[in-house]
Formats: sequence, C-alpha cells, structure tokens
Amino acid sequence: MKEHDTYNSLQRPLQHRQPLSCRPTVMMLQENLTLCVPRTSSGRDPHQPVLVHWKQPDECSPNHVLIKVDRFGFSANNITYQALGEHPHFRYFDFNTTPQTDSVSPKTHGIFPVWGFGTILKSTHPKIHEGERVYGYFAPTRYLLVPVSPADVNKHAFYVPRPHLPPDRRPYNQILRCTADPQYSPNPMTEDLTMLYRPLFWTSYWCEDWLFSSNYRRGASLILISSASSKTAFCLAYLIKKRISRKEISRNVKVIGLTSKRNLQFTQNLGHYDEVLEYGSFTSGRAFSTGMDKRWIYVDVASNEQLNNRILAHFASPYSGKLAGCTILGLTNLSPASSAADTVDWTSNTLTLAPTSDGSDTDSISSFWPKFENFFMPEWLEVRKHQLSIAEIFSRQNQAWKELMANCVGWVQIERIYGGAAVKKAYEDVANNGLRPDRGFIWSLWDKEEWICSRL
Ligand SMILES: NC(=O)c1ccc[n+]([C@@H]2O[C@H](COP(=O)([O-])OP(=O)(O)OC[C@H]3O[C@@H](n4cnc5c(N)ncnc54)[C@H](OP(=O)(O)O)[C@@H]3O)[C@@H](O)[C@H]2O)c1
Repeated sequence: MKEHDTYNSLQRPLQHRQPLSCRPTVMMLQENLTLCVPRTSSGRDPHQPVLVHWKQPDECSPNHVLIKVDRFGFSANNITYQALGEHPHFRYFDFNTTPQTDSVSPKTHGIFPVWGFGTILKSTHPKIHEGERVYGYFAPTRYLLVPVSPADVNKHAFYVPRPHLPPDRRPYNQILRCTADPQYSPNPMTEDLTMLYRPLFWTSYWCEDWLFSSNYRRGASLILISSASSKTAFCLAYLIKKRISRKEISRNVKVIGLTSKRNLQFTQNLGHYDEVLEYGSFTSGRAFSTGMDKRWIYVDVASNEQLNNRILAHFASPYSGKLAGCTILGLTNLSPASSAADTVDWTSNTLTLAPTSDGSDTDSISSFWPKFENFFMPEWLEVRKHQLSIAEIFSRQNQAWKELMANCVGWVQIERIYGGAAVKKAYEDVANNGLRPDRGFIWSLWDKEEWICSRL
C-alpha cells in the first residue's frame, strides 16, 4: 500500500502485534527523513517544505529513547502550530530541534509538532522498554530521539524534559505508554481516530467545561461557533448537545455554526448544530432574529478579523441580543506566511467566571460586547486540578472518550498518506488550497506500513 489509501482497505490488524523478534536492529537506524518548514524569520516561503535526509545518531545517551514515529494526524491545528512556531508565547518550533545539513539549520527551518503513534526502538531508561507502543507530541519524521526525565517515569507515561519552555507545556511533554492507557485500543481504526481527535477533542471538552463552569456565562442560550466545519468546532457543538442530553443545561440552548460556502453541506450533515450559516449571510439566519432578550456566547475558531467585526457590529444594536462572552479557541485563518502570525495578541484565560453579586458583566469593555478571551486548555486544566480529584478528571475523560469513539466513526473520511514525497505533496496541497473538512489525514514518513513491531 502506498501513498493515498482510504480507510476501507485498512481493516487488517496492525503488524505491531507480531512478536518482538522482528524488531529491527540499531544498525538500521542510520538514515532519517524529516519534514521541515522554513521559519518566517528566514524570509523564505514557509509553504515550501523541505524533506531532510540526515544521519540519525545510532547511540542513545543515558535516559533517552529512540522512537520510530509510525504515523501521525494532520489538520489545521498543525498549520496553526507552524504559524505560531516562532511566536514568543507559543514557541511551537522549540519542541524539536531541526537537523543541521548543508541547506537546512535550526536558524532557517523549524519542525511543526504532530500527534502520533510510535514504537520505542531503543531505550536507555531502565523502566522504558524497547518495543513499547507510545503516543505523543512527536515530529513529522521517521525517527525521533528524545531525552526522558529520569524520575518522571510511571506506568502510564514518561516526560521529555524541556526546561526552556514554560511549565504549563507539560501535557505536550508527556509520552503515553499505550499498555496502561485506558483510552488506547490496538486497532488501526481507533489509532487513526485517536491521532485525529485526541488533541482537538480535549480542547473542545475542557472549553465546554469552562463555559459550563460559568453557567454558560450566566445563562446564554445561543452559542455561535466560527469555522464550524473544523473538528475542534464541531466537537464543541457535539459536547454541548451531550450536556443538553444529560439535562445539565436547558434544551433551549441552541448551537449555531458559521462556515464557508463550500463547507456548508458537510457541516449541516454532521448534525451537531441547530443551524449552520454561511459567513457571507449569517445575519439572515433564524437564530439572529430571536430578539433582544437573548444572551449569546461567541466561540471563535476562525480568528477572521473581518468576520469578527461584522459579528460585533451586529451585536452593537440593542435589538440584537446580548453578547455575554467571546472566546478565541482557534486560528484557522492564520497562515504561516502571514506576518500576523508573530504578533497574535495573547493574554491568559480570565478564569474568574463566577457571577458577580449584582449580575453585572465585569469583563465587558463596552456596553454591547465583552472582550475576547483566549482559551488555552493547559491553563484551565491547572485550575480544574485544584477543584476536582485526578480520579474524577480521569473518570470523566474516559467516559467522554468512550462515547466519542462510539459516535465519531464516519464524521470524516480517513485518508492515509505514506512516504516522504507523498506527504510533502499533501502538505503543499493543503498549504495552497486549504483543508477539506471531510478528510481526516493520517500521514507517515515511512513508505509503507512496515515492520511495526510494538509490544503492548
Ligand atoms: N486553543 C487550543 O488549545 C486549541 C487546541 C486544538 C485546536 N485549536 C485550533 O482550532 C483550529 C481548528 O483546528 P482543527 O484541527 O480542528 O481544524 P480542521 O478540522 O482541520 O478544520 C478545517 C477547517 O478549517 C478552515 N480552514 C482550513 N484551511 C483554511 C484556510 N487556509 N483559511 C481559512 N480557513 C481554513 C475551514 O473551516 P471553515 O470553512 O468552517 O471556516 C476548514 O474546513 C486550529 O486553529 C487549531 O489550532 C486550538
């Protein structure tokens, strides 16, 4: 199987159930292949990726693991990682070091992170075993050599020390050990869905939890979500509907999606929104004529300034209802080529969501609309860790994940792409034409699914 391969032909079990005797030896690890992208600061076109062939050191220093990155998910989220690669708050290019060759260096190029599954090929930590299947925040590469925090290894996970990054990035440094992961299922379909949804779904999940913690900003009944066709957005809509079905919020809460014309049908067909409207004509939608007494929350996944100005202009009218909260959840409109990427304004979550005693909106900067707040999951999770026990957090997450895995099959069509050249081409296609929401990309720098020999 090579290059574009749709899901239906992939029902056979992964070879990683084979015994460890098929494990390749370290002698085979000389040649590595990594997809790198130009840094905006280099002045090169960031949409011209480079496939870097380089020599992988075949020795591990103490407390290191060498991971064979088998495959990884790719979506607008990874484009955002790239666009914010050099941003002083996010620093997504600082997670993995770009190899040094004649034409590429850490000064000129970066590596955007990806969420994927891999196999431990070599370990110099006594508690991490060769052949283990792992899931984590990897790189688009064949082999990834990372250090391990020696004292931070447990049966569920181990951590890559990245002291140069802020401590709240710890979730990104975690590498999960599939053997002890209750959300792991060793079949190709669930692995693919995991790579696609896990990084996005938890953001949607905790964002919904954040909104619910404020009683949906004191009783908002209309939730407006931009880039509604994106997985992050429609998972949020799905989770709001789940909350309604558990009768934890009123069934009068309605979720309205905003999307582009070409993605309207797909978004409607998902069935997660009460109404889906086009960017060009959204104010003529049913929800927008429901009256001045309604409270709205706007969750912005697109970060399109023109669109946001039109939304704010609509709510400037006292007859349009009250915008009770504006949350920035995504940046699908942010291109790595845009100079805006390095100047994205970032402030932490407000996180002071308890209603004031007089019911007034303390976070408002105008009498018509509140200020936009960023939602960044690790920051909110830190707060929740002080409010809920870890066992409660795990139990809630495991239940939500179980439900998602039962519900999400078929929301998007999985498309696997194998091989460096094919992945590079697919990246260029996405960079030039945008992402189709009905496709879930699973990419691999390996030419085919070969000698995957993980032990569970
Ligand atoms: N805050 C966080 O911690 C967090 C966590 C996860 C994800 N996110 C963000 O959420 C966003 C969505 O990520 P995703 O992976 O869920 O997306 P996705 O499923 O790949 O979404 C694809 C959609 O993005 C929009 N889009 C794609 N290419 C575009 C382009 N060139 N210009 C404008 N719009 C484009 C289109 O939606 P429409 O036509 O509907 O606009 C498209 O259908 C990303 O910005 C991601 O970084 C944030």
